[in-house]
Amino acid sequence: MKDLENIQGSRIYGRRHGKPLKKASAARLEEYFPKYSISLDNADVDFAALFDHNPKEYWLEIGFGKGEHLVAQAKANPDVGFIGCEPFINGVSGLIDHMDREGVTNIRFFMDDARLLMDKMPDNFISRAFILFPDPWRKKRHYKRRVVSPGNVAVLSRLLKSGAELRIGTDHHDYCRWILARMLENPDFNWQSNGPEDWHIRPDDWPATRYELKALEVGRLSAYMSYIRK
Ligand SMILES: C[S@@+](CC[C@H](N)C(=O)[O-])C[C@H]1O[C@@H](n2cnc3c(N)ncnc32)[C@H](O)[C@@H]1O
Repeated sequence: MKDLENIQGSRIYGRRHGKPLKKASAARLEEYFPKYSISLDNADVDFAALFDHNPKEYWLEIGFGKGEHLVAQAKANPDVGFIGCEPFINGVSGLIDHMDREGVTNIRFFMDDARLLMDKMPDNFISRAFILFPDPWRKKRHYKRRVVSPGNVAVLSRLLKSGAELRIGTDHHDYCRWILARMLENPDFNWQSNGPEDWHIRPDDWPATRYELKALEVGRLSAYMSYIRK
């Protein structure tokens, strides 16, 4: 499949491939990829033309894993156009399996470094963004690989409309401190927290993700952070 082989060079440090896909999943990937993937083959991406409906808003998920959260949000918000970024092919395949099972069609995905696509998006384009349980990159020399970086926060500040929400979740305490610091450094965001319950309890409209549940299984609690673009 040409599109699948044509992965652009980027700043991806995690896995791109995992276990071989099951036959049915591989067939679904073949079928959905040309219809629903976003390609950077052309200089510009026509975001308005991506969806069959005329989305009232665009929401972005960076690093959707196997797509459980993205599909749940897309199902609950059919008039929104969802854009998900995930370089891991087994993750994209997981997303497609969930989309197929749930009959969801308002998601388009980009199978590479989110930043490559974000750099093509117009200013004030996104009404809500999610970065859920990003890889913590525990070693100090790897901190520069973290998705929540000053550069990416600046790009999100450009993309998010005034009043738009950025949700970030993590179960990693050091990364949580890092995220709070990076977000504090950027003057364009307000942290929404009136008390501990605001970020210790996952809001009802924030479906659980695979990584969050894995952390819970081993007794690690997570932080659910919400920032509003000023
Ligand atoms: C720890 S997993 C969490 C997955 C999912 N959000 C969850 O909570 O279950 C982090 C994901 O981010 C993806 N990722 C890492 N760097 C990325 C990047 N630059 N752009 C898009 N996704 C990225 C990884 O491939 C991985 O699937």
